[in-house]
Amino acid sequence: MELKDDSGKLFYVGGCVRDEILDLPSVDIDVCYEGDVIDYVLARNYTIIKAQKDIRTVKVLIDGREIDFASTRKEIYPKPGHLPVTIKTGCPLKDDLTRRDFTINSIAKSVKTGQIFDPTGGCKDIKTKILRVHHDKSFIDDPTRIIRGLKFSLRFGFKFDPHTEDLKNEYLNNVNYDMSFSRLKKELIDCFNLNFDEALERFINEGMYKLLTSTLPQKPLISIKSIVNEFKISSPWLLYLGSTDLSRLSLTKTESKIINGLKKIRQSKNPLLECTKSEVQTVLLWTIYDNPEQGLYYLRNREKIKPFITGKELLHLGLKGKQIGKVMELIQEARFKNPKLNLDDELSIVKTFQDRL
Ligand code: CTP
Repeated sequence: MELKDDSGKLFYVGGCVRDEILDLPSVDIDVCYEGDVIDYVLARNYTIIKAQKDIRTVKVLIDGREIDFASTRKEIYPKPGHLPVTIKTGCPLKDDLTRRDFTINSIAKSVKTGQIFDPTGGCKDIKTKILRVHHDKSFIDDPTRIIRGLKFSLRFGFKFDPHTEDLKNEYLNNVNYDMSFSRLKKELIDCFNLNFDEALERFINEGMYKLLTSTLPQKPLISIKSIVNEFKISSPWLLYLGSTDLSRLSLTKTESKIINGLKKIRQSKNPLLECTKSEVQTVLLWTIYDNPEQGLYYLRNREKIKPFITGKELLHLGLKGKQIGKVMELIQEARFKNPKLNLDDELSIVKTFQDRL
């Protein structure tokens, strides 16, 4: 998408410029204005969706698309590892570019002229496939950059430059756990949802797990990527991190259930018989880290079992909507556990289910 600008002070920045140089499509467009962007959009009668007055950013609707316009800003990290604080807006473009994570994300392109501003050598680093931070305290300020680096490295086939690699290792040997774990969680989700086996290999081998814990995670016994593809898991990050101590992250109820489910079934003599169909991610974790052979056999064959009883018959028996799905699932599980079950056995499962309603 091409924007228009008459000021010469509006710039495409960050990922969209990087992606254009790499000849890759970009989902988001980020632009920044060297000055006060709220004044800029007000003067041009753009449709404003939302403005954040303190840091002078504004969401604008252009041709039906929401675009984030930011004022150039300078930031500091009063507490290493926590969110940065904006100390100046409308600052020179260079200050805005050098507050960023890697040189490859610190390139700007003038909206008016198309001219590239690259004060830190980002274009060269893109060409030579290098991830380079701007200063030696970069990972201390924002340790999530280590995971962002892993993500960019996997997405684009880039490598950390030797000095950045040293800084990364130095940080990983001295992690400061007083950090923003919600930020770290977001980056971990982004990174592992790319669904690369190499992500976990490197996370373990390069010691990136130390951002979360000092305990070395268990390695997977099979390719997680192939499991994710076969069972069509849309957000697979927990499968990758299921053997890592995640106690420092704040997990949702569903995420905790998946992880605690693994702990629970590991204590059982018959782990697979403890799970219902809806606990597929827990079964997948057990499959990946404990027993690929049994787990895969179970997951592949469980689907093939069709109950003798039909949905129509269940309706006649007085069940409704979701109850039918639930009872079908129970029957399927029971049949998997005991292939000799017949229609009468299925009916007694239905009866028990109804008695509990
Ligand atoms: N950024 C940063 N440090 C972070 C997060 C973001 O410096 N911890 C900067 C980078 O310059 C980045 C921009 O903010 O380019 C936008 O961040 P984000 O949308 O997370 O990344 P993109 O580079 O746009 O990458 P993606 O293609 O994954 O959206």
